[in-house]
Amino acid sequence: MKKSVVVVGSLNMDIAVAVARLPAEGETLQGGGLAEAPGGKGANQAAAIGKLQTPVCLIGKVGADRNGDALLQSLAESGVDTGAVLTSSGQPTGIALVTVDREGRNHIVVVPGANGELSSDDIDSRIGMLEQCEIVVLQLEVPLETVAYTLSKAKALGKTTVLNPAPAVRLDDELLRHVDFLIPNERELRTIAGLDDVGGPSIERAARLFAEKGVGALIVTMGEKGCYYADRSTVKAYPALQVNAVDTTAAGDSFIGGFVAGYLASRDADAAIREAQIAAAITVTRHGAQSSLPTRREVESFRRSLNEYEQFRSRRGEDEA
Ligand code: RIB
Repeated sequence: MKKSVVVVGSLNMDIAVAVARLPAEGETLQGGGLAEAPGGKGANQAAAIGKLQTPVCLIGKVGADRNGDALLQSLAESGVDTGAVLTSSGQPTGIALVTVDREGRNHIVVVPGANGELSSDDIDSRIGMLEQCEIVVLQLEVPLETVAYTLSKAKALGKTTVLNPAPAVRLDDELLRHVDFLIPNERELRTIAGLDDVGGPSIERAARLFAEKGVGALIVTMGEKGCYYADRSTVKAYPALQVNAVDTTAAGDSFIGGFVAGYLASRDADAAIREAQIAAAITVTRHGAQSSLPTRREVESFRRSLNEYEQFRSRRGEDEA
């Protein structure tokens, strides 16, 4: 049987509006173009993995409505098995209101709808999927209790677990001890670790803190500053790949998709982070969430250009020496 991934998480219809700059508190701004497109952190991460030609299935919940149908269709087109997605009889599909400025920065407000109903019983009803996979990926746009339950089930089944703690909340020790890879961005790290500033030493401190609670490794994504990997014995900084960002929506989801696909193939976190960085770099050069995620072919072509550029730079370095 082929190695596969299960993502447990949210599906949202994103309603995105372009603005010159993000609004300040109490301010009303005029927006530009309005676009409706498939999103949701769980769905985006599943789509990112599927587009990299890695077998993946999503466990989540939608409403019995047009948005739910459109989201399932979009996921299927990205190669995601949606057979385990449940339908709520009482709640509509989740919605996210996304504001994106000219620099590609965003604000997102999520209305959970059916995502808020995904329960531990729903996970039990899909337990066969967890048994068959190798890696289980979660975020925090479905109830925390369901996330904690899924993590403990997945660990009991001997699976590798990945948690993207977004939107961030303080996490209890019982949940954290079931996490192999904890992947927040800087802001999320501050919330989950209670840190005031983030940089090398704080990340080391956070990694130690989480390691003591049983987390395998911490990977912090830092946008244009790159990312950090830290576990009990190692801290490594990865500079960002240089691209022109137009929209950072789903950059973190794309990073996680790349990481999981890379890790499933190699079981090497370093190689997986490089794959993740390429996927995220391509994503920020395009608009939207799932619409901006790269295919396997696009990742390979970016990797080739990167290798050629690095060879060119090292040859030039030798000539100048
Ligand atoms: O990570 C980006 C996603 O966050 C958006 O697609 C939106 O739906 C929210 O879940």
